Amino acid sequence: MRLPSHPRVVVTGAGSGLGRALCLELASRKARIVVSDHNRETAEETARLVRGRGAEAIVVACDVTKVDEVEALAKAADDAFGGTDLLCNNAGIGAGGAVGEVSIADWHKTVDVDLWGVIYGCHVFVPRMRKAGGGWVLNVASAAALLLAPRMAPYNVAKAGVLALTETLEGELAGSGVGVSVLCPTFFPTNIIRDGLYSTSGMRKFGEKMMERSKLTAEDVARLCIAGVEAGDLHIVPMRDGRWLWRLKRVSPAAYRFLNRRMAMEMSKRDGATK
Ligand code: NAI
Repeated sequence: MRLPSHPRVVVTGAGSGLGRALCLELASRKARIVVSDHNRETAEETARLVRGRGAEAIVVACDVTKVDEVEALAKAADDAFGGTDLLCNNAGIGAGGAVGEVSIADWHKTVDVDLWGVIYGCHVFVPRMRKAGGGWVLNVASAAALLLAPRMAPYNVAKAGVLALTETLEGELAGSGVGVSVLCPTFFPTNIIRDGLYSTSGMRKFGEKMMERSKLTAEDVARLCIAGVEAGDLHIVPMRDGRWLWRLKRVSPAAYRFLNRRMAMEMSKRDGATK
């Protein structure tokens, strides 16, 4: 999809990390952006940065776990800009811990934000885009959806749901003029670990360490992501390690299972020491 000039964009979870970086990447293309987050203050800060780059922005507070708020978000985009060319279903939270250790409350919170938030976004915006005869939905999943690493079950399940939803939609939308992509990055530095739900300090430390190792920033991921949307890619897997592991899993499932089991054993050893 070649983005139109001054594309009309909605970004959820735009008050921090990747959401903010997507807004700024799109601001450099003079997009008209609905900057949305459940935290109005951080969304306002992003909007200030967007305007500082000469692009237009309005702020709409929206908790993506509430379908009526997502409906109001779409209506605000219609009222302000006459529709939406690109929806970025980006809002998400991190979560980690072993099955049986993660509380049921944390399972619900994770699936509510990371999966239901994206389902609501697609449910509300896709019919509008179909009616308008065009548009693009970018669903932010994670490499977790492809790799299903141990001790991240709530996050893996939610993100694999986002992947399944996106692949299903791609078929359904054939010939409609509406397209869809799913973004699957590995770790990069944002606030997701700080603000996430982790059942042990070991899991949190592991996430922080993986972030520190990242060669890409949120700005790099946002740039590669928008390039992927413009290329019409269904799967956008910006990091080399993610692409390599996803390929290994498909080419040699047994080798990948061996790696995953070994990682699980090392993590539980380390977690036991840092709990
Ligand atoms: P972040 O924590 O920096 O930003 C997440 C934003 O979502 C925050 O502004 C937060 O206020 C907002 N948010 C949380 N719950 C919300 C709700 N119920 N309604 C509306 N907004 C809500 O995290 P980051 O990393 O920028 O995350 C963005 C997306 O990228 C998420 O979907 C995450 O799963 C995904 N991702 C991040 C990776 C990373 O290593 N940072 C790796 C793979 C995927």
